[in-house]
Amino acid sequence: MGIQITPSILNADLSALASEVGRIRSADWVHVDVMDNHFVPNLTLGLPVVESLARSTDLPMDVHLMIEDPDRWAPAYAEAGCGSVTFHVEAAAAPVRLAREIRAQGARASMALKPATPVDPYEDLLAELDMLLIMTVEPGFGGQKFLDLCLPKIRRARELMDKHGVEAWLQVDGGVSLETIERCAEAGADTFVAGSAVYSADDPDAMVADLRARAEA
Ligand code: DX5
Ligand code: ZN
Repeated sequence: MGIQITPSILNADLSALASEVGRIRSADWVHVDVMDNHFVPNLTLGLPVVESLARSTDLPMDVHLMIEDPDRWAPAYAEAGCGSVTFHVEAAAAPVRLAREIRAQGARASMALKPATPVDPYEDLLAELDMLLIMTVEPGFGGQKFLDLCLPKIRRARELMDKHGVEAWLQVDGGVSLETIERCAEAGADTFVAGSAVYSADDPDAMVADLRARAEA
């Protein structure tokens, strides 16, 4: 598995979701941000919209749940056909059980860490995951500035994965752009969410290709 670029539709025209997703042919996945106005101070969309979108796109869906009580809701997103389901460890009551439930539904299980959440306490849990998401902004909004203070954690996560032979993907999300993607790749990330960088570009498809080239450099 090489570099993967995953556009986030948060900054797309949400009234035309299916066609916005269809504009980007070179993406590997589509990243869908689910926010509940409790875990983060913003509200986006939920299961019914994700189910419809899953039916209208061939791209696999990478759903990022920024919600309270993911233990209750995350398995339903896997059942709805999302290829990857990410929950936040800060909100999960039983992350190991939850990761296993997501896998049992046939999806990739992924766990996210907010900028202030360290990775070391979760060292023994990495083997339960198909992806670890390191947030590089405080979750809740697109278009925020990349937090350089998260880079050592990306490096540390890569070290811990290598130490345990864990083949999970290492994703970064927040402020990823042509200016910041190289730093993330150099630190060990291999999967990149890009929202405003892609959807504010004149040619989103070309931006995906440019981001990929920068990360591979
Ligand atoms: C933020 C979301 C991100 C967001 C990224 O909480 O999780 O996926 O869409 O947007 P940019 O790339 O603009 O920071
Ligand atoms: Zn996200």
